[in-house]
Amino acid sequence: MQATIIAALLGILAIQTQAQLIASNINTNGTSYYTAPDCTIENNSFGWNTLRNPNGSLFTASKRPIVLVYDNWVSSRVNTYVTQYLLQAMGYKVRVVARSPYILGPELYQHIVDLEMELWPSDFTNYGQITQVDRVGFDLGPVGYNGIVGWWFPSYLLDQYPEYSLEFWKFLLNPTIRSIFPPSGSGPFVNLNGAPICDNMPGTCLNNTYIPEHCRKKNANCIELLQYVPEYYTNIYQRLIDGLKLPVTINFVGDTLQTIVRDAYNKQKPVLFYGWTPTVFLSQFNVTKVMFPISNASEYAAFGTNFPEAQAFITSYSLDDSQIGAILKSVSDGSLTETQAACAWVQGNRPLWEPWIPTLPQSIGNDPIQCIR
Ligand SMILES: *[C@@H]1O[C@H](CO)[C@@H](O)[C@H](O)[C@H]1NC(C)=O
Ligand SMILES: *[C@@H]1O[C@H](CO)[C@@H](O)[C@H](O)[C@H]1NC(C)=O
Ligand SMILES: *[C@@H]1O[C@H](CO)[C@@H](O)[C@H](O)[C@H]1NC(C)=O
Ligand SMILES: *[C@@H]1O[C@H](CO)[C@@H](O)[C@H](O)[C@H]1NC(C)=O
Ligand SMILES: *[C@@H]1O[C@H](CO)[C@@H](O)[C@H](O)[C@H]1NC(C)=O
Ligand SMILES: *[C@@H]1O[C@H](CO)[C@@H](O)[C@H](O)[C@H]1NC(C)=O
Repeated sequence: MQATIIAALLGILAIQTQAQLIASNINTNGTSYYTAPDCTIENNSFGWNTLRNPNGSLFTASKRPIVLVYDNWVSSRVNTYVTQYLLQAMGYKVRVVARSPYILGPELYQHIVDLEMELWPSDFTNYGQITQVDRVGFDLGPVGYNGIVGWWFPSYLLDQYPEYSLEFWKFLLNPTIRSIFPPSGSGPFVNLNGAPICDNMPGTCLNNTYIPEHCRKKNANCIELLQYVPEYYTNIYQRLIDGLKLPVTINFVGDTLQTIVRDAYNKQKPVLFYGWTPTVFLSQFNVTKVMFPISNASEYAAFGTNFPEAQAFITSYSLDDSQIGAILKSVSDGSLTETQAACAWVQGNRPLWEPWIPTLPQSIGNDPIQCIR
């Protein structure tokens, strides 16, 4: 059975002001929380903790605290502490709370926690109800999950348009800014064995394209996203386009996508395309992912909405068996406390976690469309 990371809704946005985190299965140790003592991380040059908003305040530190919950066993706790330390290295405020009694649900339905770093779905009969039906928690995959799916563009566009905040999805709502990308209908129409790549799938693909209602209007000025085939991430982005009213159409081009992207890249031209890492294909290019809520913004867990820039960290986070084993061993032989063990692991294994820290957004300093909230 695999453990998973779960991100949950968090509706309380004013926790900084000491509002209580109350749910029947959450123990906060009064108002002290279980947040581990500080852990010094040398050479913290990732830049997240010094990143500033346009008004001069610190970007991550000025956000509400991220709330992590652990369960009453060592791997859950040290896993949570490691996450705490890395988020703190990025400048976030973090609060750790404990689950007790061992039931799943109240903390999610009452929007109390953001992340549960180790969760055993088989322990909870309501797991499916929570993640699939009520959708108050999102399964972010196995703790070892390391794939990142999204919309990408070549990073040289950040240099070509430094004032445009291209890393944040809201640039799509600004007609001037999005017009740097090819308009709908400009990509090739690709036939495969004499037939379109996809067709006759209402809401998904008609004659190789997905065109949302709002892009059928006159002067909609929609732009084109290149996608392989509808079977990759089926309907996720169609519904995202609908939900956020993104002025974007999808052109399904099969593997030709890679040729088009390579060609644009060689010419330093704008292109917006679907992709995922780690792949041999994307490893050849310097590309940037558009950050946005992964699904219908009004339904998606507040973690995704409030901390879009931190999602890449959570999905990259991966402690394998030998790593968690080493941490647990240093606790079991009594040489270190749990928080010391987590801190020592963070201090001693920088090459392992460094890739989890997302690349610093470059356009925050001059955010013309106020997309960072
Ligand atoms: C609980 O809070 C008290 C202070 O109220 C603190 O001394 C104690 O260390 C906390 N317990 C844990 C496990 O963090
Ligand atoms: C921090 O940087 C100093 C100077 O470059 C270097 O000597 C030291 O090894 C670094 N420490 C870590 C933990 O990377
Ligand atoms: C500065 O900007 C940030 C982000 O927009 C905001 O959260 C914060 O309240 C602002 N601070 C002041 C003093 O206006
Ligand atoms: C990727 O492109 C950005 C923007 O041009 C640049 O700042 C960064 O150094 C590049 N990264 C690599 C690994 O080339
Ligand atoms: C499908 O789209 C292509 C390219 O726009 C067009 O040439 C073709 O007539 C369309 N086919 C149908 C059945 O609409
Ligand atoms: C997004 O979620 C809200 C709230 O549940 C709902 O009203 C809206 O219809 C949803 N939009 C789409 C496109 O599903």
